[in-house]
Amino acid sequence: MTAPGTAEEIRDVNTRYHDGAAADYDVKWGIDFGPVGRGQVLGKLRKVLGSPLPRFARSLEIGAGTGYFTLNLLQAGVLGEATCTDISPGMLATLEANAGRLGLEVATRACDAEALPFDDDAFDLVFGHAVLHHLPNLDVAFAEFRRVLAPGGTVLFAGEPSRVGDRIAAYPKRAAGRVAPAWRRVLGARPAPAGHHDGGSANHALEGSVDVHAFVPEELQRYAAGAGFTDVRVRGEELLANWFGWANRALESTAEPADVPWLWRQYAFRGYLALQEVDRRLLEPRLPPQIFYNLMLGARAPRE
Ligand SMILES: C[S@@+](CC[C@H](N)C(=O)[O-])C[C@H]1O[C@@H](n2cnc3c(N)ncnc32)[C@H](O)[C@@H]1O
Repeated sequence: MTAPGTAEEIRDVNTRYHDGAAADYDVKWGIDFGPVGRGQVLGKLRKVLGSPLPRFARSLEIGAGTGYFTLNLLQAGVLGEATCTDISPGMLATLEANAGRLGLEVATRACDAEALPFDDDAFDLVFGHAVLHHLPNLDVAFAEFRRVLAPGGTVLFAGEPSRVGDRIAAYPKRAAGRVAPAWRRVLGARPAPAGHHDGGSANHALEGSVDVHAFVPEELQRYAAGAGFTDVRVRGEELLANWFGWANRALESTAEPADVPWLWRQYAFRGYLALQEVDRRLLEPRLPPQIFYNLMLGARAPRE
């Protein structure tokens, strides 16, 4: 993370970076809209909301990107009417194309999370994945989430980097960087040009400026409680899966994508899914949330 600029600069760099990354985003992050993706998204919701999941008649996603959460949840029947917002029109264009391909109906609106163009009490669920850490003024954003949420409605955020988890994840990334030349030699892969995954080198240069927070659980709790939410819960997810995932991602990012063998990609993907299960069953119920890589938050708007 580099030093943040003004709120306006943070919003501007996020818009430009994500516009530039939109076309390759799903490939870069392995975003899936089939049974695997659906299982992952439903699993995350269940960790926060329990089982069985309710059906939400009117949902609003913040920083929806290419549609990972909303499109999978629509397919699973968890959402009724879905509205997706994002500050990047480019990401929303990819989302619309994904929705069209899947035959799903979704309303989209390019806007800032801190100034939502919707009426008070308009939604039953306000949610997001991997977005809060991009927002300059979280107290303003949480006040907006509360304003547009109907009494008794649910707010849920997942995939937010934890401060400790982020620090720990630097080790596998660094180790992978050191062994990358030997790894490429074994696989017969050529080195990749910088920024090939991020919409070119100009976009690559913006990458270090888009993330402005990593959280401890109490901070997320404070933002939610400060906006008047009740029943606030924060939990952690993914530890081993993230070390494994980041190490492999760091290796792969140094190689020409076409040279990374299918067998390696299968090993990386299956290994990641298997370790997610180990984290979910063994570690997440036993270890404190702050040591995990991702934090998740669930809360309720009070019934008036
Ligand atoms: C890491 S991506 C996650 C996208 C998607 N939620 C997912 O999980 O694949 C973060 C998203 O937040 C959006 N974003 C960044 N700043 C924002 C802001 N101020 N208001 C709304 N969206 C924002 C970005 O454009 C990007 O699409």
